[in-house]
Amino acid sequence: MLTLGIESSCDDTAIAILEDDNIVVSLRSGQDDIHTLFGGVVPELASREHLNAIQPLLHLALQQAECTIHNIDLIAATQGPGLVGSLLVGFSYAKALAYVQSIPLVGVDHIAGHLLSVFLDKEVPPPVFPYLSLLVSGGNTALYLVNSFSDFKCLGRTRDDAAGEAFDKVAKLLGLAYPGGPEVSRRAQQGKKDLFSFPRSWLDNSLDFSFSGLKTAVRNQVNQLKQKEQPLPVADICASFQEAVIDVLSKKALQAAEKYKVGTIAIGGGVSANSALRTRLTEMCLQKGYHFYAPQPQFCTDNAAMIAFAGLRHYQHHGACSNVLGEDVFSRSALGQ
Ligand code: KG4
Repeated sequence: MLTLGIESSCDDTAIAILEDDNIVVSLRSGQDDIHTLFGGVVPELASREHLNAIQPLLHLALQQAECTIHNIDLIAATQGPGLVGSLLVGFSYAKALAYVQSIPLVGVDHIAGHLLSVFLDKEVPPPVFPYLSLLVSGGNTALYLVNSFSDFKCLGRTRDDAAGEAFDKVAKLLGLAYPGGPEVSRRAQQGKKDLFSFPRSWLDNSLDFSFSGLKTAVRNQVNQLKQKEQPLPVADICASFQEAVIDVLSKKALQAAEKYKVGTIAIGGGVSANSALRTRLTEMCLQKGYHFYAPQPQFCTDNAAMIAFAGLRHYQHHGACSNVLGEDVFSRSALGQ
């Protein structure tokens, strides 16, 4: 069974081919060079770049997998959430391919892809359901109970900025390159994480998150230092900011696992590539006797292998879209609501 995965929800065009559950090829065409000029993703430019990239990337993927489109048994494409213009490019392309080639199509919720991305690692035994997943990406931060390949329950989500968005905005404030997460995390390694005591939003008795207060506190600190014409201790600000984010993410994940009595915690999304976050969760889970799963770094950020995997599982349980041309993209996810 060959599944073609297509992902275009934000600024990465990605194509993957799976043979059953195994990745044959997983390619990505990024747009960081373009968006870094603006300090964030410009939706119109992102859509145009997807248009340029998608066809050559598909040809390359088929070539590397040593097959043709006629060998593909299933197409799984991201249907939402994300930037509508970006989603439309990948999903319309998938619809057209499916229609013309008479291949079954499955529309995949991008968040389900991230929540299941821990299954792509064949080096470790797969997680056992149910597990708690902390989704931390550029557009979303949420906690989910993953009961099966198609049963997800959202336990809490961000009320304002996503964790990745906060990393990107702090990086922009400090004049660092886009995307800010990897750069902030790199600088943080040389900084003192207790030099600034930035606020943690616990939102008592709730599994929701809030990062806008933290972002504002960093902005105020930066402005104060600039007004006093003092040099910016960039590494210390990065380390102290990162520590505040990690404190909240890790404690809330543990709190949710305890509340829902699950012994396995997984993470997914771009921020799950953050090594300090991975280390903290590994240590906390070890102390509690929980299992901890993190995707391999290349499958933390947006990729099409996770979309192909989630689509394949959806197809096996629920079948394909019955009216391919009638399907549309969605900008917000209702997964597990
Ligand atoms: O999952 P993703 O590729 O895109 C979305 O679906 O949103 O996540 C991208 C986000 C960006 O905000 C980026 O700054 C952040 O993930 N990110 C990181 C790291 N690598 C990527 N944040 C913190 N530390 C990292 N190492």
